[in-house]
Amino acid sequence: MNLQGKRILLGVTGGIAAYKSAVLLRLLVKAGADVRVVMTAAAQRFITATTMQALSGQKVWTDLWDEGVPDGMGHIELSRDRDLIVVAPASADFLARLATGLADDLLSTVCAARRAPLFVAPAMNVEMWQNRATRRAVAALRADGVSVVGPDAGEQACGEVGDGRMSEPERILDAIAGFFAPGLLRGRRVLITAGPTEEPIDPVRVITNRSSGRMGYAIAQAACEAGADVTLVSGPVALDSPAGARRVDVRTAEQMFEAVRRHVPDADVFISVAAVADYRPRRMAEQKIKKTEGGGLTLEMVENPDILAHVAAMKGGPLCVGFAAESENLAENAQAKRLRKNVPLIAANLVQEALGAETNAITLYDDAGAHVLGSGAKIELARKLVSHVAEMLATRSATPARGAGS
Ligand code: C5P
Repeated sequence: MNLQGKRILLGVTGGIAAYKSAVLLRLLVKAGADVRVVMTAAAQRFITATTMQALSGQKVWTDLWDEGVPDGMGHIELSRDRDLIVVAPASADFLARLATGLADDLLSTVCAARRAPLFVAPAMNVEMWQNRATRRAVAALRADGVSVVGPDAGEQACGEVGDGRMSEPERILDAIAGFFAPGLLRGRRVLITAGPTEEPIDPVRVITNRSSGRMGYAIAQAACEAGADVTLVSGPVALDSPAGARRVDVRTAEQMFEAVRRHVPDADVFISVAAVADYRPRRMAEQKIKKTEGGGLTLEMVENPDILAHVAAMKGGPLCVGFAAESENLAENAQAKRLRKNVPLIAANLVQEALGAETNAITLYDDAGAHVLGSGAKIELARKLVSHVAEMLATRSATPARGAGS
C-alpha cells in the first residue's frame, strides 16, 4: 500500500477504540503518509499524546487555544494543507456535534473549517449506535458527503455484542487507500441496479425478493471512489445513497427496465446487482383482495423483462456485469448464466451468505476463468470488483468496440 506524500489529519476522540488509532497511525506512517494528529480531551483519557507523537514523529495538537499554533488560527491552519481528514474512533458525541455544526474544541473546529474530504470511523456501544439520535446524525453526515467507515459487528469492550466496534485499522487503511486510488474509473459512466423489485398484487400486497441492496450500494460507493460518474437505479431499500451517486428510485421490474433504458445509452459499464422479480402478477387488483373462507387463491403471473440480457444484447452497448446469487452449484450455475445471458463478467455468491449481511464471498467468472475475490466486507469486495472491471475496460478500449463492423 503506497500513501507516499499523502497528507492526512488523524482525529482521535474519546473511546476505548482509541488504542486502535495508534495502530492505524502506525500503518499510515508505514504506508508513507504524512500524518498530523489532533486529539480531544476525552481521547487523552484512553491514549496519550506522547504515544501518538512518537508514532507520527510530529507534535500532537490537543488544544484550541494552543499558543504554538501559527497566527492563533489553528483550526484553519491545521487542516489547510491536508488531503484528507480521518476521525477514528469517532464517538457518538463527536458525530452528533459534527452533524449539527458545533465547534467547541480543536477537532470539531478543524472539521467545521475543513476543505478536505472527511472520513469517520464510528465506535460506540451497540445501543448508542442504534439510538435514533445517532442514526439521525449519521444520516445527516452522509448527506453532507462525509464517508462513514464501519462500524463492524462483534464483541464490544463493554461485554455486549452487536454493531458498534470500530473497524479494524487495516480496513480503515483500505478505505483511505481506496480514496487515494488513482481514479481507476475516472471519466467512465457506470450504471448500477440494486435492491429488490416489488410487483404489486393489489394496493397493499407485493411479490418481492429478499435483497437489502447492500452489495449494489457498496459497488456504487466503490465506483464513486474510483472516480466514475455513477447512476444507481434502486429498488425499495432502507439505505442512504453513496456520496456522489445519482440515484433513481423505482419499485417494479418494468420501472427498473424503463430507468435502465433511459440511462444506458450514456453508460460505459452496466452492473446489474438488483434482485429483479422474474414474474409479476398479470393484473394488479384495484381493490384489496378479500379472503374467501376455505378457498385458495391463484395468481396468474407473467414474465418480467430480463434487463441484463436486454442490455447485454445491445450492439455497441456497455460492458455488462451480472450477478448470480445461487443457493447451490455456484460455479456451474454462474458459468451457465454467463453464457446464456451473453455477459462477459458474472460475480457469483451464495445467497445464504449474502442476504442482508455486511459481508459476502464472491468469485468472478469471465473468459479467462474464475477469479476468487474471497470473503470480506461488501465494500472491500466491491472495490476488488471495480478494479477487475477497470482492467476489463482498459483491455476493451484497446480492441475494437463490440459489435463494430458486424
Ligand atoms: O435472476 P437471475 O439469477 O437470472 O439474475 C442474474 C442477473 O440478471 C443479475 O445480475 C440480475 O440483476 C439480472 N436480472 C435482470 N433482470 C431480470 C432478472 C435478472 O437484470 N428480470
